[in-house]
Amino acid sequence: MLNVKKQDVMFTGIQPTGLLTLGNYCGTMCNWKIIQKKYQCFFCIADLHALTTRSYDHSIKYNFSANILDMVALYLACGVSPYDSIIFVQSHVYTHSQLYWILSNFVYFGELSRMTQFKKKISTYKKNINLSLFCYPVLMAADILLYQTNYVSVGSDQKQHVELVKKIARRFNSIYGDVFIIPDILITSRECKIMALQEPTKKMSKSDNNKNNTIFLLDNLDVIRLKLLQSLTDSDPLSRIKYNIYDKPGISNLLSILSFLTQQNISALEYEFKNYRYFDFKKQLSDIVCDTISKIQKLYFKFREDENYLIDILKFGAKKSLIYSKKNLFSVLQVLDL
Ligand code: TRP
Repeated sequence: MLNVKKQDVMFTGIQPTGLLTLGNYCGTMCNWKIIQKKYQCFFCIADLHALTTRSYDHSIKYNFSANILDMVALYLACGVSPYDSIIFVQSHVYTHSQLYWILSNFVYFGELSRMTQFKKKISTYKKNINLSLFCYPVLMAADILLYQTNYVSVGSDQKQHVELVKKIARRFNSIYGDVFIIPDILITSRECKIMALQEPTKKMSKSDNNKNNTIFLLDNLDVIRLKLLQSLTDSDPLSRIKYNIYDKPGISNLLSILSFLTQQNISALEYEFKNYRYFDFKKQLSDIVCDTISKIQKLYFKFREDENYLIDILKFGAKKSLIYSKKNLFSVLQVLDL
């Protein structure tokens, strides 16, 4: 089924918590269609990672399996091809948890304690500071290293984790020889960091409590329009459409979105909109955002209807991933004399 022989491997993972956002799209997903032609891509739905922030409150419904199918349909809608790429669920492939345990012997307590995301999470999830929250990057290391990954596609918040993964791989290799390929972060020409609409100094996130901060790819188009029209700007009396992330983070964020979707550079847009009022600028922007998202949604609904097809993709993905990863896990077991 996988028809092209590609040399280099690209790996990426996303947790199946909440729905994907415009931030995910502009940050990474928009590149996948092109990247998969160049690299052997693995798209991992990281359900084991998502367990780390699950509450023990049984009244909360997580709908993991429905979320997973939503994600697969969205991947397909964004152009990921199950013929070119491998889409799979982390928990379907047992090698991940096995390599995780092995690698945890090669990471130090101090290193994990210094992870910014860990520090943030223990202040957010005060009642559930579990061990997995701490070891989270080690499972990521297993995910990445199992596939002899050359490039990892991650958002900026995950870069520190990937640096740690490289360190773990180098440490292991320095003892046992060249067992792992040292991965690099994938740099693409088209990517952009989108900020929260009401708090434009923080990143747009799918788990934000304030839903007005986030544009979900599956939001109703009228809702998207409203969120953009009501996005926070500033009280500049001249309402200048100018890019300046310190003085005008709101307008700068909107300009970044527009620049990304129209592929026009920011200064050209500043010029084009120099006589616009904020509201009119936002109206134009929302037309363009809705246009992009409605195309994705149309495809999404078509794919989402056929659950059996989506399940088959995941079954095939798990089978393929197991074959790839088992080979690498066996080399690790061998050098450890296990
Ligand atoms: N931790 C990543 C996130 O929350 C998801 C993830 C899990 C991942 N395993 C990975 C990303 C491996 C890249 C590579 O965004």
